[in-house]
Amino acid sequence: MDTSALRAKFLGAAAAASDEAALEEVRLAALGKKGEISALMASLGKMEPEERKAAGALLNILRDEIDSALRAKKAALGDAALDARLKSEWLDVTMPARPRRIGTIHPVSQVMEELTAIFADMGFAVAEGPQVETDWYNFDALNIPPEHPARQEHDTFFMHRDAGDDRPPHVLRTHTSPVQIRAMTEKGAPIRVIAPGRVYRMDMDQTHTPMVHQVEGLAIGKDISMANLKWVLEEFCRAFFEVDKVELRFRASHFPFTEPSAEVDIRYSNVGGQLRIGEGDKWMEILGSGMVHPKVLAAAGVDPTEYQGFAFGMGIDRLAMLKYGIPDLRAFFDGDLRWLRHYGFAALDMPDLAGGLSA
Ligand code: PHE
Repeated sequence: MDTSALRAKFLGAAAAASDEAALEEVRLAALGKKGEISALMASLGKMEPEERKAAGALLNILRDEIDSALRAKKAALGDAALDARLKSEWLDVTMPARPRRIGTIHPVSQVMEELTAIFADMGFAVAEGPQVETDWYNFDALNIPPEHPARQEHDTFFMHRDAGDDRPPHVLRTHTSPVQIRAMTEKGAPIRVIAPGRVYRMDMDQTHTPMVHQVEGLAIGKDISMANLKWVLEEFCRAFFEVDKVELRFRASHFPFTEPSAEVDIRYSNVGGQLRIGEGDKWMEILGSGMVHPKVLAAAGVDPTEYQGFAFGMGIDRLAMLKYGIPDLRAFFDGDLRWLRHYGFAALDMPDLAGGLSA
């Protein structure tokens, strides 16, 4: 009896089986009750003793060979299935934890953090005041009496008053300058503070929104001058815009609470919509400033014959637009998450001077 054809057939079929079901079919065809090898085994009984002995030995060997080939293949198929499962259920535990859920920092908040870090480095503390302010702090104490035309120019939001309400009139503060009065009244002189925060004016078009952000600066001492103001502002702009060269232009102006007063422009260029600070032939107004008026010092309980100093008020939203190339002011207040994801900052990246602020 020659078993080589059967051997080749079943070992080949076992090797080719691609899953356990196919493998079981091969087993049944060879070794099952009605399988070919089993049928041959059954035929042994009709043989002569000599012939039966030789054929029986060959068939036993063949049966064992096929049986172990089937077992080996079954184990290999099981390993492959486990591998595939492990691959599909693999988890990368080193992935960052839900970065989106933490959210992003709004550009205005980022800029507030940046300028706070810069002014803190120059010795300015942060002062605060209420957004609903009395008209005394917002106007009178800043040398803007009721009949003063500047009151109209401020487009003020007035809080509702019931008839007979004799509390002082309240407004939404139109600038951060009332914090000058509160800080000096509270801390006296000498003093060096900034006051970032929200201010409100009835104004709404492409470049104006009814609420914007300002930062007030105030430095009072015995010999503080406009020269100190100029240095502080130039130093601030260099650090904030992260450029070595900045050029500021001081234009004579008028504010009731400073004398003399100056508006300050910064040199920039606009090449194909790309703004560059410190070069080019364009000027953008970024702040109002001046030497604090003696009447303002007196209103806050500081002796104007002994002390003097400077103050400035800067628009934060415009600083953010300039630095981060944001074209439309109104987008700041839309609350559009897609916009925020584009312009926002990573929540864990706190600006600091050592890191170059925005890095
Ligand atoms: N309060 C002024 C404004 O809102 C800015 C300013 C502040 C000017 C301090 C001079 C000094 O326009």
